[in-house]
Formats: sequence, C-alpha cells, structure tokens
Amino acid sequence: MALVADALSYTYGAGTSFAAPALRGVSLSLEVGELSLVVGATGSGKSTLLRLLAGLYEPDAGEVRVDGEAPGEPGRVGIVFQNPETQFFAETVLDDVLFGPRNLKFPDAEEAAREALESVALPAATFGDRSPFTLSGGEARRAAVAGVLAMRPSYLLLDEPTAGLDRAGREAVLGAIAAARTRAGILVVTHDPEQFLPVTTRVLALSAGAPVFDGTVEELLANPEAYEAAGLELPAVVQAQLLARKRGAFLPEIALDPALAAANLIAARGPVR
Ligand SMILES: Nc1ncnc2c1ncn2[C@@H]1O[C@H](COP(=O)(O)OP(=O)(O)OP(=O)(O)O)[C@@H](O)[C@H]1O
Ligand SMILES: [Mg+2]
Repeated sequence: MALVADALSYTYGAGTSFAAPALRGVSLSLEVGELSLVVGATGSGKSTLLRLLAGLYEPDAGEVRVDGEAPGEPGRVGIVFQNPETQFFAETVLDDVLFGPRNLKFPDAEEAAREALESVALPAATFGDRSPFTLSGGEARRAAVAGVLAMRPSYLLLDEPTAGLDRAGREAVLGAIAAARTRAGILVVTHDPEQFLPVTTRVLALSAGAPVFDGTVEELLANPEAYEAAGLELPAVVQAQLLARKRGAFLPEIALDPALAAANLIAARGPVR
C-alpha cells in the first residue's frame, strides 16, 4: 500500500509557444507512516508534483498509483495548497472543515471535523463559529490543514504547511502531522526543512523539475554535496558540523539537534585549524 509516482513529467502549455517543462522524470514512493520532504528552489516543480500526485493534473509521461489504483478516489489523497486561504468557501470554520467528511458520508463527520480542528489547536468551541475569512494568516493555514485531516486521507500532501507561522503555530501543525502520521503517509513541501528533518524518512530535492537528490536523511547528511550544489541550504547546525569536520574535527555522525551537536563537537577535540 503506497502512493507511487513513476517517472513523472509535466509541461505547462504543452504544444504552445510558452511550453516549458515543469517536471522531468520524478519518481517517489510514500507509505503510510512515512514523512517525506520535497525541497527545491522556487519554480523547481514542487507544487506541480503535488498536483500530479493528487490527480489534479495528468502527467505527460509516467504514472501515479494510489494503493495500486489511478488517483482520483475522493478522500484517499488530501492536499493542502500553498495558499490555503483560497480554499475556504463556507460561512463558518466548522462548516468548512465539515464539508469533506460530510461529503464522504462519514457517520461521525462532526466528530472528525472537531477532532481535526482540535489537532491544529483551533478548538471548535472557540473557532468553529468564526468566518474562515476573518482568521489570521496562521490560523487560516491551520484551518486548511484541519479541513484535509478531517477527511482522514491515507496520503496527505502539504505545500508549505508552516510558511508564515510563528513558533506556536508551527508546533501546532507539526503536532497535527505527527498525529496524522499514525494512519497516513505525509509528503511535505518546504523551504524550511530544518524543523522536519529530525522526523523525516526521505528527502527528494528538485532542481528545474528534475530530481537532484533522493534518499534518507542519513544519506543526505553523509553526502550533502548534490543537495548543496542545487543551491539548497542545510540547517546552520549541520553546516557548522560539516565545517568543523573539514577542519579536522572527528565527528562520526552529524547531529540535527543543537545540544547533541555541541556535545559531539566538544567530544571531537580534533585539531581544528
Ligand atoms: N499554471 C501555470 N502555467 C504555466 N506555468 C506554470 C504554471 N504553474 C507553474 N508554472 C511554472 O512551472 C514551474 C514549476 O512551478 P511550481 O509552482 O511547481 O514551482 P514550485 O517549486 O512550487 O515553486 P515555489 O517554491 O515558488 O512554490 C515554474 O517555472 C512555474 O513558473
Ligand atoms: Mg510551490
């Protein structure tokens, strides 16, 4: 059981004078319980990839399979867009989040909606009756995540779910993702991988629509050159350790946690030049 993409390619405006390939030969596999990151410079094809995975676009080449079937079955793959506030349409936050589970005819639709709102720290008792259009940017993003979580999808595609959130908002979304992960595979597009790397199973880096790195976090930390060559920045804590290693510090592993990194650096006692 997995969401599988095999050699996907996609061109906007194919056959017209402005045709430009947005995605070229991208493959991935996401299982329930996994959290994969998709990173890449702006315009590298990340959002295009999510739309193909959700079945919103048809690939020019390659194919998407959701648990072995063609994408499109309602509720199986949930997507939160980069600008989720544009997805609201109901008069209240609760109605908006209820739409999905009701549409899917969940017998416990209301409970699913309330649970989802709770999981992103927007309790229905406080936020349920508000108009979604009066939410702050950070609240709106979390409400959009709740709207998709309420459908209990097997695969959850999140485009920049923490962009513009403060620490509490990020932690609320990260907590909701961790909870959803017990029953879903999660794919996160982000420009800020630091917060996700400690809980990430795989990283896919795109450059100009093509994969430049695809591997586990351990593989990425062991071999960051391809990632950095694509113009992507590793977290500062990782950069500091790689630099210390280059200067002779003996660091058998690269830590993501700053406290662990500091401890390893102190223990390394290499001939730092
Ligand atoms: N509807 C569209 N019509 C034509 N070209 C498009 C369209 N949407 C995206 N593109 C182009 O396809 C390429 C990939 O876009 P995409 O939105 O997937 O990038 P992205 O990696 O999500 O970028 P960002 O980090 O800025 O969100 C870009 O060159 C973009 O200009
Ligand atoms: Mg995008």
